[in-house]
Amino acid sequence: MANESYETHEHDVLVIGAGGAGLRAAIEAAAQGVSVGLVCKSLLGKAHTVMAEGGIAAAMGNVWPEDNWQVHFRDTMRGGRMVNNWRMAQLHAQEAPERVLELERWGALFDRTKDGLISQRDFGGHRYARLAHVGDRTGLEMIRTLQYHGIHQGIDVYMECKVERLMKDGDRISGAFGYWRDTGKFVLFKAKAVVLATGGIGKAWKITSNSWEYTGDGQSLALWAGADLIDMEFVQFHPTHMVWPPSVAGLLVTEGVRGDGGTLKNKDGERFMFNYIPEYYKGETADNIEEAERWYTDKKNNRRTPDLLPRDMVARAIRAEVKAGRGSPHGGVFLDICTRRPADYIRKRLPSMYHQFKELADVDITKEPMEVGPAQHYVMGGVRVDADSTAATVPGLCAAGEAAGGMHGSNRLGGNSLSDLLVFGRRAGLYAALYAKNVGGRLSVDAGQVEAVARETLEPFDRPAGENPYAIQAELQETMQNLVGIIRTEAELKEALKKIEALKARAKNVGAGGGRTYNPGWHTALDVRSLLTVAECCAMAALERTESRGGHTRDDHPYSDDTWGTVNVVLSERGGGISLRREPLPKMPDELNALVQEKA
Ligand code: FUM
Repeated sequence: MANESYETHEHDVLVIGAGGAGLRAAIEAAAQGVSVGLVCKSLLGKAHTVMAEGGIAAAMGNVWPEDNWQVHFRDTMRGGRMVNNWRMAQLHAQEAPERVLELERWGALFDRTKDGLISQRDFGGHRYARLAHVGDRTGLEMIRTLQYHGIHQGIDVYMECKVERLMKDGDRISGAFGYWRDTGKFVLFKAKAVVLATGGIGKAWKITSNSWEYTGDGQSLALWAGADLIDMEFVQFHPTHMVWPPSVAGLLVTEGVRGDGGTLKNKDGERFMFNYIPEYYKGETADNIEEAERWYTDKKNNRRTPDLLPRDMVARAIRAEVKAGRGSPHGGVFLDICTRRPADYIRKRLPSMYHQFKELADVDITKEPMEVGPAQHYVMGGVRVDADSTAATVPGLCAAGEAAGGMHGSNRLGGNSLSDLLVFGRRAGLYAALYAKNVGGRLSVDAGQVEAVARETLEPFDRPAGENPYAIQAELQETMQNLVGIIRTEAELKEALKKIEALKARAKNVGAGGGRTYNPGWHTALDVRSLLTVAECCAMAALERTESRGGHTRDDHPYSDDTWGTVNVVLSERGGGISLRREPLPKMPDELNALVQEKA
């Protein structure tokens, strides 16, 4: 590296990650008149945002005029089992409708109600039908809209670029250093403020809806730069993904199927969800088929069937049915929409699902049920941020979207991710731009820091016969799938941590053959560092939280415990290993607390 020159770019604000949150942040920062760089690990527009298919949650009141931000706030807090950052949940509920309308002004083509308003569909845990949607391709339409709007805002886009480390000037962030995935050459970005919008950590599990990019990059970059992470034990296993054929296991089956009337059945044809209604939702959820069907056909009724309980509850119920031997032939359960809905309705409302099953599994969902099962989909935990500004605990660093923690508490409601990334993506871009304008002096990047990261990045080439990075990743995925999955125990979490420790030791000897030009083996050797980091955080926090809540279920501590309902598990890495502590949740004002206590 000593003699290697590298490209340098300089921006006021650097946004890392170009899904919905990153694009929205970049647009807002550019609107503040600062210079903005947007880094994508793959191609612009290829983002997990498209995997939020069913809609954007926003209390617009188009279908149910009774809906408002207060009810949305209440649903979100209850869905997250009250450990959400209340201020994030409040801002999210208040600002989501305007963010949807703004998207429409920028060209998004939403489905309409008969009166010409933006149509809104049902989703789990939402009291009213409130998901603004574009068939079952809402995330895709959102990305398309943000991309087309964004490219006219003077943003510099850097594609196929992987950031390895954030740079610091003293305590402050001063940029990022990484490499081009195609040439393998290094690139330095100098920036006054950095927004992390890199999405999730799904590739630490074997069965996930996430694609190859989601290796916990933002969470790791933040931790390594001295920022805190919170809530990493809360991982969402979305209940419905394809389970067959094996090549497509983990492909999302939108919750919109259940929102539009689909019901879950076991191999005996039983609608088993009636057996899994928790105390918390009794009275709000039909507790027998007759009542459910009456409510379903009564258009004036906004009550739910248990198929639309929050995701954590449905995923656990499916797992229990399969474990009890009542699953489908390929280890899932059945999702049936053809019994309740005519074929043309299904093809119009759920075109992607129709084609997905027809083309990939030879199943016609207008005539037969789908086979579905849970897969890792989202992480509620992430970078600890200030609610209003999205500022992390390191000056100059912000985080938004899935990379940030707190908003969703222990479980995210479906559709709340798209609204989250619009609301907090905008806030991140705004705050980062203001910070960049106000920060004094000229920030410098230390050549020694760059040199050290470059050396580390090239180390795998010193060991062409070293450990195989794919083997390490596969073993990590197996470990997380089997030991840090939907249901956890102390013994299994301890075993997971031991295995992660052993994998970390092996990762120190990871090797890469060949050269730097488009070398996926080398890229994986680098990605396993962040994967191991986030996996360790997740397993440590899961071991610490000796209760069950939302996306964290402990078989050995099956109930929620009030003492745990008031704290976050906070992780940091200062001077060596990762450490963990409990910190009290910010206190919710009484008037908001009263809203949350209201019965539906
Ligand atoms: O099921 C879905 O369409 C996913 C939505 C989400 O994760 O918000």
